[in-house]
Amino acid sequence: MSEILRTTYAAEIADAETGSEVVLGGWVSRSRDMGGVIFFDLRDPSGLVQVVLDPAELPVGAELKMEYCVKVTGRVQARPEGTQNKDLATGLVEVNASDVEVLSASDVLPFMVDDRLNVDELIRLRYRYLDFRRPTMAANLKARAKATAAMRRSLDDMSFMEVETPTLIASTPEGARDMLVPSRLQQGSFYALPQSPQIFKQLLMVGGIDRYFQFARCYRDEDFRSDRQLEFTQLDIEGSFWDEEAVMQTIETAVSAGVAAVRGEAPSLPIPRMTWTEAMHRFGSDKPDLRFGMEINDLSGVFSETEFKGFSGAIADGGSVRGINVGPRDFSRSALDKLIDQAKSLGAKGLVWAFCEEGTWRSPVAKFLSDGEKEAVIAQLEAVEGDLMLIVAGPTRNALEVLGQLRVDLGQPTGHEELRFVWITQFPVFDVHEDGGLSPAHHPFTQPESIDQMINDPENAFARAYDLVLNGSELGSGSVRIHDPVVQTQVFDTLGISPEERESRFGWFLEALRYGTPPHAGFAVGVDRLLAILVGASSIRDVIAFPKTQRGIDPLSGSPSLVDNDQMIELGLDLRPEVKAALAEKEDSND
Ligand code: AMO
Repeated sequence: MSEILRTTYAAEIADAETGSEVVLGGWVSRSRDMGGVIFFDLRDPSGLVQVVLDPAELPVGAELKMEYCVKVTGRVQARPEGTQNKDLATGLVEVNASDVEVLSASDVLPFMVDDRLNVDELIRLRYRYLDFRRPTMAANLKARAKATAAMRRSLDDMSFMEVETPTLIASTPEGARDMLVPSRLQQGSFYALPQSPQIFKQLLMVGGIDRYFQFARCYRDEDFRSDRQLEFTQLDIEGSFWDEEAVMQTIETAVSAGVAAVRGEAPSLPIPRMTWTEAMHRFGSDKPDLRFGMEINDLSGVFSETEFKGFSGAIADGGSVRGINVGPRDFSRSALDKLIDQAKSLGAKGLVWAFCEEGTWRSPVAKFLSDGEKEAVIAQLEAVEGDLMLIVAGPTRNALEVLGQLRVDLGQPTGHEELRFVWITQFPVFDVHEDGGLSPAHHPFTQPESIDQMINDPENAFARAYDLVLNGSELGSGSVRIHDPVVQTQVFDTLGISPEERESRFGWFLEALRYGTPPHAGFAVGVDRLLAILVGASSIRDVIAFPKTQRGIDPLSGSPSLVDNDQMIELGLDLRPEVKAALAEKEDSND
């Protein structure tokens, strides 16, 4: 006969009948010896419940330490008047133990399993399995599972088919550095880990799969940020005979299901839309945070005749003067100097600050401007007494981006509770580099709105591409794809990819496009980013079970790690002399 290890979860004790016998399984979370009676909180995945025992009858009670894994058999009883705990869901009851069995003892913990304590993240990651016992981490993983299950159900309801694509592939062009895996059988050759399943999902469309999705693990060797990891998860979708409208509706339905699963309430649909151009002009960003205003204004009209060189020069050079009203702020001179330095580090020539005082400006440049100009700016920025105004003059794109960054840094969103989704549409086809070189703004499989314009005026060409933005974070991207091999070749040409490189890297894909490819479009949602925002985490690491640190390290398993020389030989690899020397030096200093 098998032993009963648990009949009831801790949280269920709140509604259990007094007098009923229960068997609980969990961990000792807090223990108090009151002399003659021992109380401890038993924690399991559902929550906490108080257990009471008499050490004269159950001597094991005195041995119980933090995080011991125990089985408790006992009867549910009401707590005596005056000992109830209103802050605990099970605070009106307790379990009077008739037996406590230690299933597994615990060493002294490296940190307390307590959400209220601020534990160094490196320690948390080193002992991630203990971190999962903290209610917040457990809740984050649960939220993630609920959201992904809901999105999967939603896509299944819409007749999408889940297809797995390989993770050992030839390199795909998403713009980041590839992670490589050496081949033992084809020595000297490498697989790339996919930056996304982009080409494979397009091949599924060529094959008539029609509606595809996948929770796909993607790998990108790029600089870390709080919303970036080397490996992350996309909810990846693609559909045939589709346009942007169909993609947006599908994504709105699936993402809403995920939001509702975590927040209990779906966002209101449809999600508003804004073109990339409008987003740049109003917010200086292609991922505007709409939780607060502080929009950018074009002040060039006010200064069209100005005598102030800082402004007139920018306008004469084809640029503009843009400003924001930061609102009532009490900034010291040194804080303002810091803002100027920041603007300069972002590429601005300078930053003009002005406080609205008695209907005019308090500003280092006030004396260079006419009363009319100052009043017009106050009127246009709708500034009132005490408001801080920031103005940047220069090349328009730069002025917008600098103010966009200052807006985000100085803005005061109302917290993560509010969810402000927005679609950004009509992105440029290409990013233009300082040297005039072009790279795809999305990826090279994105359909330009006009092929002629893409060829003749690539810098100003727009794409059938769209992003989903949530609270100032890029949640996902997608596009209508090129399904004509001739157009695809033209895009590669415009990007300056030689016919040889085109054939060697993409020949197999261009060939596939020649077999009756349907029009198709798709999208990928960053699942980690979505969940981090939904649970209010400041980093995506808090919604990933085993993430890497900012330096790409897993402190728990010690990856990445050196490998045996035998393994290297088997793979036909050797380290470069300078790498070997650096490793030897490191080893010496560790001795
Ligand atoms: P894109 O490269 O924009 O598009 O990626 C889609 C979404 O994936 C998330 N994301 C990341 N999340 C965590 N860490 C990272 N390093 C990281 N990089 C990207 C973001 C991003 O919006 N194949 C195309 C999609 C398509 O066209 O269908 C693609 O991968 O949330």
